[in-house]
Amino acid sequence: MKTSALSTLGRRTALPPISWLMQTALTRPKLISLAAGFTDNATLPVEISRRLLNDVLRSPKTGRPALQYGITAGETHLRELTARHLQKLDAADNRAYLPERVMITGGSQQLLYMTLEALCDENDIILVEDPTYFVFLSILQSRGLRARGIRLDRDGIDLVHLETVLERLKKSGELPRLKALYLVTYFQNPTGVTTALAKKAGALKILKKFERAAGHPIYLLEDAAYRELRFAGDDTMSALTVRGAADRAIYTGTYSKPYAPGARVGFGILPEPVFTAVQRIKGNHDFGTANLLQQPLARALASGEYDRHVAKVQRNYSRKARVMKQALAEHFPKSVEIWESGGGLYFWARLPKGISTGMKSKVFSAALKNDVLYVPGGICYADDPSRRKPDHEMRISFGSASVENIRKGIKRLGKVLKKFVK
Ligand SMILES: Cc1ncc(COP(=O)(O)O)c(C=O)c1O
Repeated sequence: MKTSALSTLGRRTALPPISWLMQTALTRPKLISLAAGFTDNATLPVEISRRLLNDVLRSPKTGRPALQYGITAGETHLRELTARHLQKLDAADNRAYLPERVMITGGSQQLLYMTLEALCDENDIILVEDPTYFVFLSILQSRGLRARGIRLDRDGIDLVHLETVLERLKKSGELPRLKALYLVTYFQNPTGVTTALAKKAGALKILKKFERAAGHPIYLLEDAAYRELRFAGDDTMSALTVRGAADRAIYTGTYSKPYAPGARVGFGILPEPVFTAVQRIKGNHDFGTANLLQQPLARALASGEYDRHVAKVQRNYSRKARVMKQALAEHFPKSVEIWESGGGLYFWARLPKGISTGMKSKVFSAALKNDVLYVPGGICYADDPSRRKPDHEMRISFGSASVENIRKGIKRLGKVLKKFVK
């Protein structure tokens, strides 16, 4: 008899690498975690949410629909407001922003997962930034999908490398397995990099060139989770604004980062036939995201409370990023290269090559011993057999730690690094 009745996926799904880090942070109260990707507790919209929920539940007329099942693709008003919101961000006016193309999901995480379910069979290939969002890599691992990393520059992926990888896949006969290029385009997790619009357009053009050999469309999956956490520079337009991209760009966004992760409301704009496939899959998952959570959010967007709140959140992260920048300049060895960001929650630190930051490294254990935690860069790299995984980098977050703890944490980490780096 077999010892377990688990499916292939059930058996294969590995413990996410971040679980241990999160557990450690919770069980050691003195530890300063610069690892967590959490948003700042201090700016979560408690008052606004109470008021809006009260409004929703004020009368049976408004309360009942919120407590009833809803539409699988999302609450109609929230879909309209989301379409308008995105259209405003992109300052665009094309058919990409129709509310019918908007899907509301249980966080954008659910949308990323379902998009892969809709597009990929086991062994299919997804191109990712090198490095990328490690939970996305966990989905690939769980679903038996393969990843190929595309080198990342300070303004997005290296398009020459993208083309080289595609040529290689074509030569090896694997191109028909390639379904999408996944890019975290704003203040990327983990590096803080924002992808230039020209790079999105360039990538779409290159992907299109290889579609004939692939035998099907190759999508650009644009994850804009951190877009609204911008505190410096101008916004960059999304791939939806690129001419001819309406049927190849899949855009995912979220109300988690700018508003409340606990509301678990994400959204996306999807072209056909992906939209219909994802909608059906979502029907099987949950019949639709909780109305009780969608309705207050719709009210926040409609009343302008959402925009006012986002402005406050941006100011808060701007200050915390500034504090982190100053602390890094003061305490980190000069040979550590820092990639600062004009938004999001993260800075990326690159130690000289050869100095490992991995969970089993001396640097990591020394940091832990000194009660400070970071995300080792290595876990953000896909299992790509065509290159060795770099492991000399770290993601440090200014999101959830207080200003005081950012200063203290960077000081502790700097002291540790000075033992290993000149
Ligand atoms: C790059 C990126 N995409 C998507 C998500 C998913 O967020 P949510 O499901 O809260 O929308 C996260 C969360 O940390 C993220 O970092």
